[in-house]
Amino acid sequence: MSAGDGSAAIAVRGLSKRYDGRAVVDQLDLQLQRGRVCGFLGPNGSGKTTTLRMLCGLLKPDGGSGTCLGLDIVREAAAIKRQVGYMTQRFGLYEDLSIRENLDFIARLFELPKRRAEVDGALERLGLTARQRQLAGQLSGGWKQRLALAACLIHRPSLLLLDEPTAGVDPKARRDFWDEIHRLAAEGITVLVSTHYMDEALRCDQLCYIAFGRVLAEGTASQIVAAAGATDLEDAFVRLVDNAQDNFA
Ligand SMILES: Nc1ncnc2c1ncn2[C@@H]1O[C@H](COP(=O)(O)OP(=O)(O)O)[C@@H](O)[C@H]1O
Ligand SMILES: [Mg+2]
Repeated sequence: MSAGDGSAAIAVRGLSKRYDGRAVVDQLDLQLQRGRVCGFLGPNGSGKTTTLRMLCGLLKPDGGSGTCLGLDIVREAAAIKRQVGYMTQRFGLYEDLSIRENLDFIARLFELPKRRAEVDGALERLGLTARQRQLAGQLSGGWKQRLALAACLIHRPSLLLLDEPTAGVDPKARRDFWDEIHRLAAEGITVLVSTHYMDEALRCDQLCYIAFGRVLAEGTASQIVAAAGATDLEDAFVRLVDNAQDNFA
């Protein structure tokens, strides 16, 4: 697939980032078709967050090129930001504002024309209408994550970059969250989501597994398991890291 392929939500090559002379993302290639859900997995410190931040235009890569939503990741970072919903690893909203006030604040930042309607729509979509007056700081983990998802949907992005959105969230809330991800994908939104949960990985259309800043495996879960000669996905990832440790670490 070429970088200019209109069906590609993400098409990057050789993406690299160094900190203090150390490559934390090292020549990463990633292709993702529009409307698909891609799971982004790898040990802590493997470079997932750094990669997501480069893809949404928040962090300038030291090397590499390509497009997000057909826009150049280096030259058109500002335009990418407007079309991407990025959910950070740590809850980034105002704890002392209500659910509604948080969403309204973000709608103002994006200068949305029909702010009230957009906020109402986001509340409705995530089942937050009845709780809209509750302070964000008083919500449980699962409800906070719903609010965070509502917040990154409010400007109607066509690509979602979700960084461990369900870490520490209970199983029922995780399942609800993933049902919503699949509804969004069915509407044509592309999702790249990092996770450590194998059940979530199995709900993705495709997976990208990284360690030491490099892609160690990609494809469907069954392709990855077969290629690694593993019994299941978790076993495949353990084997991949063990092998990579000998080569890169
Ligand atoms: N701003 C920074 N300055 C220096 N090192 C960083 C910075 N951000 C991330 N790193 C390092 O880069 C590596 C990858 O981090 P990160 O992308 O957060 O990994 P992951 O999200 O997979 O846990 C880690 O070793 C981390 O300590
Ligand atoms: Mg991270």
